[in-house]
Amino acid sequence: MNIEKITAVYWSASGNTRRVVTVLGQALAQRLGVPYSDIDFTLPAARKQDYSFSATDFVIAGAPTYAGKLPNKILPDFATHLIGGHTPCAAVVTYGNRSFDNALAELCAVLQKDEFLPVSAVTVPCRHAFTDALANGRPDEKDVTALAAFADKIADRLMADKATPVCVPGQADAPYYIPQGRDGKPAKFLKAKPKTDIERCISCGHCAAVCPMGAIDAEDVTAVTGICIKCQACIRACPKQAKYFDDPAFLSHVAMLKEHFADTVTGRKAISFYL
Ligand SMILES: Cc1cc2nc3c(=O)[nH]c(=O)nc-3n(C[C@H](O)[C@H](O)[C@H](O)COP(=O)(O)O)c2cc1C
Repeated sequence: MNIEKITAVYWSASGNTRRVVTVLGQALAQRLGVPYSDIDFTLPAARKQDYSFSATDFVIAGAPTYAGKLPNKILPDFATHLIGGHTPCAAVVTYGNRSFDNALAELCAVLQKDEFLPVSAVTVPCRHAFTDALANGRPDEKDVTALAAFADKIADRLMADKATPVCVPGQADAPYYIPQGRDGKPAKFLKAKPKTDIERCISCGHCAAVCPMGAIDAEDVTAVTGICIKCQACIRACPKQAKYFDDPAFLSHVAMLKEHFADTVTGRKAISFYL
């Protein structure tokens, strides 16, 4: 396969997916001796543009798992604005130590519809956006080493002209995972929005600038005027730790995750590679 350049395309609200796809993309470009670039598909303006690729591109497409699938408000943009042309690609899904469930299958399906050819895939346990108690610090150096080794394998396949369609677990059209609370019952926090501690907030506007939904009013950052997808971008970007969620159902879900999926309970979960 004649590959002339590598492009990583990612949606990444709290930075894990960006780190994973850029590590993989840069390692692959270096191994193949071709240029590397990336497209940050996270913010609303970037998701309004079309990105077209040809058969001599190799694309690394990455997204996180939300409720066992891809973030539902973002999926239409992946389906509309990434335009392949028999473009070989790697599908990358990160998840926060619980499970990626059907997210990888959904990403591969949407890429196929977009005329990409998924020939490799990877799922990487990463720090959960909701809490540092799950997969804290990941992707870490061990993950970076493993991803670079995987890039070597993808390169070998491409150079030997042996890249074939990849098989991944899960079902693209499966329903979403229903978050549970500590009591095991569904935790309904769809309408929860971040609050602002006005004693701490300095109105720097970071939260509004990083919101992938453009939901925070830049003039009055205490106002969440749009849809909140609970991605935690504002919480993690705030230099004063002024943003927080106090929705009881959300907090109960986070407590359940800590009880059942913290590193101390699960041990270190492995990256899964598919080729
Ligand atoms: C709204 C939401 C839902 C999530 N759902 C899941 C899930 O079902 N399973 C899981 O293991 N992690 C889940 N996570 C954790 C993210 O998949 C994980 O933290 C991911 O690496 C975040 O990627 P990013 O840093 O690129 O935004 C969820 C995170 C958020 C914000």
